[in-house]
Amino acid sequence: MIPMFRSILWSLLVVTGCGDNARPADPLALAPLTDLDPDPGVVEVELVAVANAGVSYRPGTSAEAWAYRDGAIDGSEATIPGPMLETHVGDHVIVHFRNELTETTTIHWHGIRVPNDADGSEHTQTPVPPGGTYDYVFDTDDAGTFWYHPHIRGDVQLEKGLYGAVRVDGGTSPEVAADRVFVLDDVKLAADGALDDSVDEDDIMLGRQGNSLLVNGHVAPVLQVAAGARERWRFVDAANGRFFKLSLPGHPFLVIGWDGGIIPAPYSTDTLLIAPGERYEVIVDLDGAPGDVVTLQTLFYDRAPPTLTDPGPLDLMTVRLGDRGAAPVALPTAWAPFEPIQVDTNTPVQNFVFHEETTPTGERAFSINGERYPQVTPLLATAGTVEIWRVQDDVGMDHPFHLHGMFFQVLDVDGVPVAHKGWKDTVIVPRYATLRFAVRYGDPGHWMYHCHILEHQERGMMGVLTVSAP
Ligand code: C2O
Ligand code: CU
Repeated sequence: MIPMFRSILWSLLVVTGCGDNARPADPLALAPLTDLDPDPGVVEVELVAVANAGVSYRPGTSAEAWAYRDGAIDGSEATIPGPMLETHVGDHVIVHFRNELTETTTIHWHGIRVPNDADGSEHTQTPVPPGGTYDYVFDTDDAGTFWYHPHIRGDVQLEKGLYGAVRVDGGTSPEVAADRVFVLDDVKLAADGALDDSVDEDDIMLGRQGNSLLVNGHVAPVLQVAAGARERWRFVDAANGRFFKLSLPGHPFLVIGWDGGIIPAPYSTDTLLIAPGERYEVIVDLDGAPGDVVTLQTLFYDRAPPTLTDPGPLDLMTVRLGDRGAAPVALPTAWAPFEPIQVDTNTPVQNFVFHEETTPTGERAFSINGERYPQVTPLLATAGTVEIWRVQDDVGMDHPFHLHGMFFQVLDVDGVPVAHKGWKDTVIVPRYATLRFAVRYGDPGHWMYHCHILEHQERGMMGVLTVSAP
């Protein structure tokens, strides 16, 4: 789009969006789910999954996407991402979910330490049939950025648009001019703007990479900020297979949070790598003069040589600096307390090896320790005990490894201790590398662990951890 047209479009967006409140509509803001319970400690919402949502990825076109909408508002529009669940630490959450798709689905609350029956996997609930309902009931005990998505046919259902963000407030919160959530994705669009459902060999091998990059469901959106403002940006990678290596030229990111919330010691970086399933929170100082334009880009990350080739930097979002904002307030001096999980040479170790092969019938298959989900032997563990997981790639590509129901602490990669500390629930296991993390087992139940490249997960790269009470 030529810059002139872009700015006209921007002013149209600003002007047309004014509702009863005087604030201009921010096309990138995620609408919150309506809380139906007046009790401040209880968040009760209605969430509906719909097929053929009238969603448009490109102006003037329509994609037969699937999406979530707020069931508490009659006739509310389905959006991609779905409406955001906003809660505080300690809140009790009740989600009345209704499935209006033509196939079964569930919802997994990625990263939230839910009771097992709210985890959304096939081991913890009967899938919700078309027209069916399910109540997900849990407490949000950890502050941070999480997300929700189906846990059945994830490669198809997420690609169709079923995902949303969750923001749990509480704990250390730096004072910022704006606190934004950006859900990153990519889709394969046909010339008419509809979703191209075709799946080729590369899609299966690498995880589906689209031809259109999305920030909160928009292709090449424009974000209006105040020049000089300090903002908090929370990123979620909801793509099937794309890793984003974010760069905002001239503006380093101060990483303050990971999957499990605020980290003990923030660090600055010029590029931020985020894989499917992961979340990162950053502080960014939008230095520059009113009128300046910066572009959030994703740089090439070689996660599967030699198949992927470098397309050069790809633009994600245009950031326009408007009138000068208030000067940034000093950042906190203490962030989050951190207690390392104690491990030593006597700590039991569980080994996991990722593998890929072609089945006798010619299908591409992915396994962990030679087993393909659902034909897997559950790994047995006791709540509250500590073990080390040693996860190794034998495929020759990076895999984002996710464990449900609990956080873990990464120790080292190929024996080299990691530079930064914090809690993760999804971590990149680099190609041919061995990564170790320490985990203290959480609540009893069946907890899935899998590669978050959804094509790998759905073709076998998933297992189940069964935790019993001590
Ligand atoms: Cu976000 Cu089991 O997944
Ligand atoms: Cu994988």
